[in-house]
Parts: sequence; structure tokens; C-alpha cells
Amino acid sequence: MTPKKMFKLPESGLHGKLLLPGDKSISHRALLIGAISNGKTVIKHFLRSDDCLNTLQAIKNLGIFVEQHSTDIIIHGKGLYGLQPASQPLDMGNSGTTTRLIMGLLAGQPFRSKLIGDSSLQKRPMRRVSEPLAAMGAKIQTAPAGTLPVKIDGQPLHGTKIKLQIASAQVKSALILAALQANSPSTIIEKLPTRDHTERMLRKFGADVQTAPDKLTITVQPHPKLEGQTVTVPGDMSSAAFFLVAATIIPNSNITLCNVNINKTRTGILKALLKMGANIKITKLESQEEPVADIQVKYAPLTPIKLSAKDIPAIIDELPLIALLAACANGQSTITGAQELRFKETDRIATVAQELRKLGVQLKELPDGLIIEGQSAWQITDSTLDSHGDHRIGMMMTIAALRSTDDLLLNNPEAVSISYPNFFSDLSSLLKTRTEV
Ligand code: S3P
Repeated sequence: MTPKKMFKLPESGLHGKLLLPGDKSISHRALLIGAISNGKTVIKHFLRSDDCLNTLQAIKNLGIFVEQHSTDIIIHGKGLYGLQPASQPLDMGNSGTTTRLIMGLLAGQPFRSKLIGDSSLQKRPMRRVSEPLAAMGAKIQTAPAGTLPVKIDGQPLHGTKIKLQIASAQVKSALILAALQANSPSTIIEKLPTRDHTERMLRKFGADVQTAPDKLTITVQPHPKLEGQTVTVPGDMSSAAFFLVAATIIPNSNITLCNVNINKTRTGILKALLKMGANIKITKLESQEEPVADIQVKYAPLTPIKLSAKDIPAIIDELPLIALLAACANGQSTITGAQELRFKETDRIATVAQELRKLGVQLKELPDGLIIEGQSAWQITDSTLDSHGDHRIGMMMTIAALRSTDDLLLNNPEAVSISYPNFFSDLSSLLKTRTEV
């Protein structure tokens, strides 16, 4: 695809209201849990992005009948043991969430499966899932580097008590999905609390999944009778975050983001923005299985921030945006304890540093984070930006480009479809004065 011309500084700021696309993590889970439930699951406001469509194709290849009606999906689930072996390797595309959750789901199924993926996914670590699953009796073979392709030889699983070494919702969710199929209860202890959408959704479908008051210890009872449900997917905080940041850093902005999931395991970005001095108002709070709210945000000058390991899980996907906010703040910011960023769709410490430097941002890479010097104006050194095929880097750089009056280009803009196919048109709807030529 040809490079995309970036929007320039909108002099009157960003304005208007936006209904955010469905949450990516919740859309994946609704598909997978719907597939192993009995009867019909209706998913409303499903995120039709490349990653979620990979999960949808995977459950179809595992023998599940799926109806698609615009943004709604209907899954005809066959129960915990109704999946069929796929006739070919299951292609996970770019999606780490699909891969890791499916590893847990298929570990206890009485058949063999093979998982493959694209060039980015082939570099990402999978032993973090296969090793803890092995403690439950799973037989999963990764490539020698611990990566895809992964071969799963489905086995009867036994319950376990396991302490996770990495704070990862994907790893935790894989273990929970495997624990549903074990011969006795399992206890999974997290390193730090991570997003809890799997636990919430499984409870809705009828499973006995308890989270202890420490928010770290999860107990799973096996063999639940899961019943199909109607799931309304809330707006994705990780998508809303691009506009929260855009309105905060572009003078004269005033926007409202509607129906956004504000589950506390996901709102690190709101907390960080407020700490930095952002002008944010949360209204119309509704609490269902997942809490949602409208968020109004206006331009505000920013102070620097320090984030460390304990802050990271609730803001993991928004750290590239934190680097951008920090680059606009008045002083030096630091992010540490974020080594997990090196294992995302790209090494996001490296790609954030490489791309923001093109705009003249001064920053230093740390093994586990970044030190960023905030500046009121940047000196562009390279006008061709690149997503590196990473959706969140492409979207973050598009927002960063809004601070500039130069002609900037973005290579590989199509990567945004991984999580937000309408990103450019939604952004354009908030730009009162169009500056793209
Ligand atoms: C996700 C969890 C996070 C996040 C990813 C989606 C999920 O990964 O970065 O985009 O849906 O469980 P880790 O849990 O591995 O940090």
C-alpha cells in the first residue's frame, strides 16, 4: 500500500462525539466462550477487525456454525466438548490473543491442532503459555525458539495450583480455559492484576470462576454447564485512548467518547492522563458485566509522569501513547518495568523510540522502558513515519503527526485494521478543519 498523508495540526482542535468500536479483548472472548457454550450466543457491537476475524475463522474451522449480521454475530455453540478437529492448521494471523487463548482451549480437547501465524506473530514467545499448561498435563510443542508453529496434542488435564511468572491476561486466560476442562479445581495466582474480561464473561455464561479479594488468586471449578448468552461488547478503551490523547495535546479540542469500557483493569491511561493534568470528565456511568461510560476530554497542558512495574498491566497497550504524552509534557518522564513491550506486535520500546525521534522527540531507550524529554515544539528530522506493521504504533504516530504543520507520510497504514479498521475516518470526523491535502 502507498504511504498515507497524515492529517496536520487542526487549528480549531478536535470536536464532536464518537461511538467507539467494540473492545478487542472482549470480542475475542465472546467468540471463544460462545463456541464452547450450549446454544445461541449473540454478540452485539462485535469488533470486526483483522484480529477478531482470525478468532472467528478459527472457531468456524473448529466446527462451529457462525452467522454474521453487520456488527452482530450469532454463534451456535456446541458445549465444552463440541469442537471438531480442524482439517488444516489454524491461522492466527497477527493475533497473540487468539493464539494464546486457543492454546488453553485446545489443550484439553481430544484431538490434535496446529497453530500458525504471520511473520510478526512467529517471533512472539509462546512458552509462557505452553509451560504453565504443561503443569496441567498439556502436551504442546512450540518451534525450537519457543514460537509458532505450535502443535497441540489434546490431553486429559488435571487441576493445578500455579503461580504465574509474568503479568499477562493472555497467559492467565489460557490457563482458565484449560482449567474448565481439568479433572479437579485449579488455582491460578497472578503476579499483578491483569484485565479480567475472561473471568467476568465466564461467570456470565455460568462458570464458577472466583477471584479472591487480593485480586490475584483465581479459582476455577471444572466442567461448568456453559449456556449461550447475549453479549453487548462495550467500546474499546485502548481505541478511545488515541482520541483521549489527541484532544489532550491539540489546543482548542473538546470531544466526547461514548460508551467506553472503564473496567479498572484497563483504565491506566485515564489515571495517567489525570495525573499529568488532563481535562477529563466521566459521565453517564453504567455498570453491567463490564462498566461503561462517556468520557469528555479537552485540551490541557501536561506535567511529566513516572510509571513503574505495578502500573504497567492496566496501561500495557497504551504505553506508546504515554510516550507521546510525555513528549508534549513540561519536563522529563520515565517508564520502567515495561519489558513486556518488547514482546508485542513489534518491540514497542524500539519502534516508539525510532518513530518519535523522527519528529524530533528526545528520548532514551532503557531495557525495560523509556526516558522521555518533553518539549513544547519538535524539530522534524524525517517526514516518512512507519507503523512497522504494528497497529498501535501506526495510530500513535498519526496522533503525534497532528502536532505538526509539516507534510508527513505514514508507511504501512493498513496495520490499523488489526484493531481499528475505521480509525482514519473516525479521526477525520473529529477534525473540524481538514488539513489533509
Ligand atoms: C490482551 C492482553 C494483553 C494486551 C493484548 C490483549 C488480552 O497482553 O497487550 O493486546 O486480550 O488478554 P498480555 O496479557 O500478554 O500482556
